[in-house]
Amino acid sequence: MSSNTVKIFSGSAHPDLSRQIVKKIGRSLSNLESTLFPDGEWSIWVDEYVNNTQSFIIQPTSQPVNDNLIELCLIADALRREGARRITAVIPYFGYARQERRVRSGEPISAKVAADFLVSSGITKVITVDVHSETIGGFFNIPLLHLSALELLADRVKNLRLKDPVVVSPDVGGVRRARNLAYYLNYPIAVVEKRRFFEERDKTEVLAMGGEVSGKSAIIIDDIISTGGTIVENVKILKKAGVKKVVVCATHPVFVGNYKENLGQDTIDKVIVTDTIPVSKEKKFKNLEIVSCAKLLADAVISDHL
Ligand code: R5P
Repeated sequence: MSSNTVKIFSGSAHPDLSRQIVKKIGRSLSNLESTLFPDGEWSIWVDEYVNNTQSFIIQPTSQPVNDNLIELCLIADALRREGARRITAVIPYFGYARQERRVRSGEPISAKVAADFLVSSGITKVITVDVHSETIGGFFNIPLLHLSALELLADRVKNLRLKDPVVVSPDVGGVRRARNLAYYLNYPIAVVEKRRFFEERDKTEVLAMGGEVSGKSAIIIDDIISTGGTIVENVKILKKAGVKKVVVCATHPVFVGNYKENLGQDTIDKVIVTDTIPVSKEKKFKNLEIVSCAKLLADAVISDHL
């Protein structure tokens, strides 16, 4: 990879991951100044010669979602105006992905609006990880490379050598994900059916469960842990059904609201997530393990350039 033709920039969302990615590639981050004006607007300055380059911008659009999304778009616009030939956005966590359809009339399709922002600011390709719904691929008229962290999570789970393991999908929409994890591990699967309340979108309730779990070690796999409410409801029903041990896996640690209280319960033996979103020291809790997806992303950047 020639340093003249490729530039890798990091937004402000997750500089630690960006540094790990470029380290694995054997490069350093390109120069960019990104600060906030006193009124909260971004001030962006690309301090590099980028004309005719392939430029990458690493930025999860995690909390603060709107700031991180707009910062990414502004960096892309700056690169485009300086003549970057291709601009690839590496978005380890794609915010707004859960709003990819209208659940009731009067709602926007927020994921489509986010995709339009990215494309209209000059991004020519997106690389992302375990996006909430594959529908989102259709919102882009540019290439989207969808990576999966499931194999990384599977490796960690395998090392735990759980007794009588069963992979559990915490909702019907996640069955494919659970099947894929179960395939890597060669474990059976079970499915929990949940519903989300319209009035309180953070609240869920478990309706039913399918599959044999009694006396087993359950590995719940989800794409996102936000408040941990879904997990808690799942753990309750699994424990009632006789599950002995619970390991929770998810790609994206959104971690908001009561997540610490919910995930730190004694009924949960381990929580394994990746570093698509930064988890500060204060946000960590006992039994939390973070697996890095830096190599996954570094490999994707390398093969995108070749
Ligand atoms: C929703 O369908 C997602 O896959 C997750 O299950 C959800 O975002 C988790 O949210 P929470 O942790 O707040 O229950």
